[in-house]
Amino acid sequence: MRQGEDAPCVWCLVCGAVWVLCRELCGVILTLPFSLSFFLQFYAGSTPAEQVPVWLEELGLEYIDLVLLHHPEGMPFGKCASGTPAECRANAWSQLSKLQKTGVVKDLGVSNFNIRQINELGSVEGGAAVAVNQIQYNAFAPPRQDLLVKECQAQGVAVTAWSSFQGTMMQHAGMFQQDTLKEIAAAKGRSVPQVLLRWALQRGAAVIPGTGNPAHMDANLAAYGFELSEADMATISSIKNDPKADFPATGFEVNES
Ligand SMILES: NC(=O)c1ccc[n+]([C@@H]2O[C@H](COP(=O)([O-])OP(=O)(O)OC[C@H]3O[C@@H](n4cnc5c(N)ncnc54)[C@H](OP(=O)(O)O)[C@@H]3O)[C@@H](O)[C@H]2O)c1
Repeated sequence: MRQGEDAPCVWCLVCGAVWVLCRELCGVILTLPFSLSFFLQFYAGSTPAEQVPVWLEELGLEYIDLVLLHHPEGMPFGKCASGTPAECRANAWSQLSKLQKTGVVKDLGVSNFNIRQINELGSVEGGAAVAVNQIQYNAFAPPRQDLLVKECQAQGVAVTAWSSFQGTMMQHAGMFQQDTLKEIAAAKGRSVPQVLLRWALQRGAAVIPGTGNPAHMDANLAAYGFELSEADMATISSIKNDPKADFPATGFEVNES
């Protein structure tokens, strides 16, 4: 990957467990030539038309299943150098859509976009449909994230939840110690991480829990093996409203660029 202000940020997640979890609920058929799935995320500061072929070469793949246009304003490492953030998003989407038509990218998505930013992509001439919006989403998310999930789903945009454990910025431990979650998990004979994943799955989101621990991968996949009742779902969703509950709900940034 090239370094510098205009270089795209490429994050590759290579994990069979993540793939199985995502495939189940993405609502998008992502066929694979190999046993691995790659989720590539980048911003418009550079040229997707040039960069995607480089990724294919480096990865030794014939095509990429899903490319995400990451973060609406690019973040500090990929600030838009050639226009407003909206112009850069539109430009990147146009280029990515052309690439998709050649077959080297199967599906296109976005990450951390609000519904306006997604809808703006609908005005891009020849633009692809947005398949996925990958957003920070868990039971402690503010109400606007719940609304965004509903808006995306109403428009046929699959939602992928990152931060299922509020793991970003290494705060996941606090969530695992939350008393109400521990009680619900104990009653189900499950773990708190499994309950948190199950909550998101039952909200219709795909989950991509980050782990390098095979035992955790197995445990996370077992989130499919049980169900939370409506009462459990409501209780979990309401923890964030309890002033006595100690939970680490941070990082839910608003981006209106
Ligand atoms: N689109 C975006 O803007 C964005 C931003 C941040 C992250 N992400 C992506 O989201 C994915 C998830 O990352 P995240 O930052 O959101 O973190 P997360 O999944 O909420 O939490 C990850 C943490 O949870 C632990 N963990 C995972 N499974 C566990 C289990 N069963 N039991 C106990 N601990 C468990 C992991 O430790 P162990 O390794 O010890 O299991 C790790 O410390 C990553 O692939 C990341 O690239 C996307």
